[in-house]
Amino acid sequence: MKRFRRLRTTEAMRKLVQETRITAEEMIYPIFVEEGKNIKTPVPSMPGVFRYSIDRMDEMLEEVEKSGISGVLIFGIPKKKDEWGSQAYAKNGVTQQAICHIKEKYPQLLVIADVCLCEYTSHGHCGVVKNGVICNDETLPLLAKMSVSLAGCGADIIAPSDMMDGRVAAIRQALDEAGFLHTPIMSYSAKFASAYYGPFRDAAHSAPCFGDRRSYQMDFHNKKEALRELATDIEEGADMLMVKPALAYLDVLQAAAERFDLPIATYNVSGEYAMVKAAAEQGWIDERRIVTENLIAMKRAGASILITYHALDMAKWLKE
Ligand code: PBG
Ligand code: ZN
Repeated sequence: MKRFRRLRTTEAMRKLVQETRITAEEMIYPIFVEEGKNIKTPVPSMPGVFRYSIDRMDEMLEEVEKSGISGVLIFGIPKKKDEWGSQAYAKNGVTQQAICHIKEKYPQLLVIADVCLCEYTSHGHCGVVKNGVICNDETLPLLAKMSVSLAGCGADIIAPSDMMDGRVAAIRQALDEAGFLHTPIMSYSAKFASAYYGPFRDAAHSAPCFGDRRSYQMDFHNKKEALRELATDIEEGADMLMVKPALAYLDVLQAAAERFDLPIATYNVSGEYAMVKAAAEQGWIDERRIVTENLIAMKRAGASILITYHALDMAKWLKE
């Protein structure tokens, strides 16, 4: 008889043969930075997540530094929004200032800069809008400008999340021309139009004021198309890829990891986090065990980088 149970007898035995592990270093913690002073506002649908002003960020950043996780993914929320999202590439924009602050005080933390216009535009879309249409090619120079601006503040990685076609090539060219030859691009390559982003849009005040994002983000019925998006981003010069959201898209993640040799990140998004937190607060699930199971599933599917709002908790649990 085959006795699989021989390797399951004790905790030490099980640990010895564990095929998948998580380390703090492969996790990235998303953060929200709001323009203003003395702000630490809880995000109602994301218990444990706050919007900070720069002068209040340090308590959180010190915790990130101590946790051993590699870095943060930064989202800025400006006071003034306009049609062109000009605060996204303003010299003294909130995101620019926040990146400078983090790199000055915590130089060893990696700062990944999310590049997209939706937190900065009055209409909440990820690109330039003309006659109710979200324009692709008109958006590219703005994304390129934003990328150069954030790289100039010390951002270690540029992460475009807008889903315009050709943005990786446009950003790569602009970064190179500005001398940022060594700033890598982590592309949100397969980003699906998803209801799982709901809580994020509350947090970042970035919900579109008309329509939805389905003319640029991917249709979640499609997996082959996701592979074409990923392949195109490699051709355009992406250094790292991303599949987003995570849990409902593990098949896409696995196919991507099997097909491509680049580091692949997955983004365990706001709605996934909100569901776990809500059930845990009710006492209906064991938060630690559920989060561990979810994150291990992402790694098992092939992710090498985990972007998750659970990063600080998970890092703590790993030390226990
Ligand atoms: C901005 C952006 C979004 C997320 C990351 N970058 C929202 C969106 O596309 O509407 C979602 C992150 C999350 O839900 O945690 N383009
Ligand atoms: Zn966007």
